[in-house]
Amino acid sequence: MRTALREGSAYDVVVGMGVLSDAGVLTRDALGPGGERAARALLAHDDALPRGLVNATAAAFTAAGLNIIACPVRASEAEKSFATVERIVQAAASGRLERGEPVVALGGGVVGDVAGFAAACYRRGVPVVQCPTTLLSMVDASVGGKTGVNVRVGDSLKKNMAGAFHQPALVLCDVATMQSLPARDLRSGLAECIKHAMIGADFGDADLLDLTRSALDHVLGMDAGALVELVSRNVAVKAACVGGDERETLASDAPHGGRMALNAGHTVAHAIETLPGLSHGRPSLADLTHGEAVGLGLLAEARLAATLGLLDGREAEELREVLERAGLPTAVRGLPDSARIIALMGDDKKVAGGRLRVSLPARGRRCTLADDPPRDALAAAIDTVRGD
Ligand SMILES: NC(=O)c1ccc[n+]([C@@H]2O[C@H](COP(=O)([O-])OP(=O)(O)OC[C@H]3O[C@@H](n4cnc5c(N)ncnc54)[C@H](O)[C@@H]3O)[C@@H](O)[C@H]2O)c1
Repeated sequence: MRTALREGSAYDVVVGMGVLSDAGVLTRDALGPGGERAARALLAHDDALPRGLVNATAAAFTAAGLNIIACPVRASEAEKSFATVERIVQAAASGRLERGEPVVALGGGVVGDVAGFAAACYRRGVPVVQCPTTLLSMVDASVGGKTGVNVRVGDSLKKNMAGAFHQPALVLCDVATMQSLPARDLRSGLAECIKHAMIGADFGDADLLDLTRSALDHVLGMDAGALVELVSRNVAVKAACVGGDERETLASDAPHGGRMALNAGHTVAHAIETLPGLSHGRPSLADLTHGEAVGLGLLAEARLAATLGLLDGREAEELREVLERAGLPTAVRGLPDSARIIALMGDDKKVAGGRLRVSLPARGRRCTLADDPPRDALAAAIDTVRGD
């Protein structure tokens, strides 16, 4: 599969079982301009990955003629920071990584975002090869070129507040890497798949919700064929969306909002995801994952869309059912009052000229932008995912 971006860059996204150890895929030509002369690669990897996976990936790049400089990264939102970018850049500099020599990001969205940003900064930009190891990062974070870090402002952590657009040279989605992924993280990835499915008609896949529904049990059972199909269909939706709007500048030209459509569910999600003290289910599920926050945000925003007459109530209910079947929370305890959550949304990047702009799932599996939705309707929609 190849993404074609408006501004000219295009890259391959290879999806399959065992692609990370496929020498045919890992040629140096695939690393983009200058890649054929590359002699080194910096492997920024999640430090929690099974040792065998890290070693096998390093061996595959070595077999492609690249000496590996390894740099372990802790995958947490707190470590998705400028300090980690600096550490990766220092590792690249001590290993004398040159222009044209890639950073290889092996891990979930945290590693992809922070290592991608380090690649965008080091020597003013070296190639990045994204090797996602979570469902979420395969279907979403690894494609599209958004990289970045969180920034602490006062007492809160502002998600993705600094970053750069830096398109990968190559994306390798090896579904075999997910064999070690905890079930909770697999379910979290399903939230982004469900988001794509809710807006799929705008990006060439009106049937994605049906496919997702019928594939759920196979995917949760780690069936390789089901995973490859789900990842491929989602990458195609993401690529169709970002290919038309590489830098998120189309919001006012396209009815679905261009790349902003991908923010469906994320206005609420970003406001609640780093709040301490939230819980759902057992105490061990305290603190939301990104995907869980996206599922809750999507549900609240779908209910807002229904209140505004943009979505049928039945479609919002269908969404709740599919989230539940995926094992995702549809309510959370410990949310602060809705006015505080709306105030947190005001700090988000989705504010234009002081006005909140929310990408809502709309009728017919499409997306629409709502500028400054009525605050009482927004507060009521947030209240519907309140679990206490
Ligand atoms: N750049 C983008 O376009 C974009 C899009 C969506 C999300 N994101 C970002 O992605 C991040 C979330 O990504 P994520 O859900 O992949 O989270 P993550 O990177 O934190 O990974 C989740 C957990 O799974 C572990 N893990 C990862 N792969 C594993 C494997 N194969 N086996 C065992 N354990 C594994 C990690 O150590 C971590 O504990 C957020 O920071 C979010 O902002 C970025």
